[in-house]
Amino acid sequence: MDKVVLIGYMGSGKSIVGLELAKKLKINHFDLDDLIEKSQGLTVSDIFKQKGEIFFRKKEHEIFTQKIASKQDFVLSTGGGTPCYYNNHLMFEEKNVQTIHLKASVDTIVQRIIKEKHKRPLVQNLSDDDLKEYIAKHLFERNFYYNKAKFIITVDSKSINQIVNEIIELL
Ligand code: S3P
Repeated sequence: MDKVVLIGYMGSGKSIVGLELAKKLKINHFDLDDLIEKSQGLTVSDIFKQKGEIFFRKKEHEIFTQKIASKQDFVLSTGGGTPCYYNNHLMFEEKNVQTIHLKASVDTIVQRIIKEKHKRPLVQNLSDDDLKEYIAKHLFERNFYYNKAKFIITVDSKSINQIVNEIIELL
């Protein structure tokens, strides 16, 4: 087994798919946002508020690098921005790292995060009307990094189980 790293935009299902995938593969699951929150004793929102985004990105890079360098195998659910900072995407080229992009459409993402904006500092101050415009542009920019994944799985209208099974077939 290798290290399996799930990447993709906010709301693409990285956390829940990662959890279920790890259960099936019988390996550990880590959620990068949780690890950052634990290391700071603060929620992601509070880290952004109190220490700023740059601080968050540094911690994200530090913890991501440590995890990839560790000997154990696991499934890691990253944050939506992880591949886009500090050349974190170079880690995807490691032989023992299988990166999977969970690709969701703009409409799916809007639908999923509109009610949870408060948990996501990048969008929490946007009005519902502006959300779609913001996500469409942001996703376009970030696809440059997401498309560096070894595998891409579309997730729109698929169940968690279906996505997990598709990933297992790829690995
Ligand atoms: C971010 C996504 C979030 C979290 C932080 C920044 C981003 O993770 O890391 O709010 O830059 O897209 P999720 O993708 O799990 O929401």
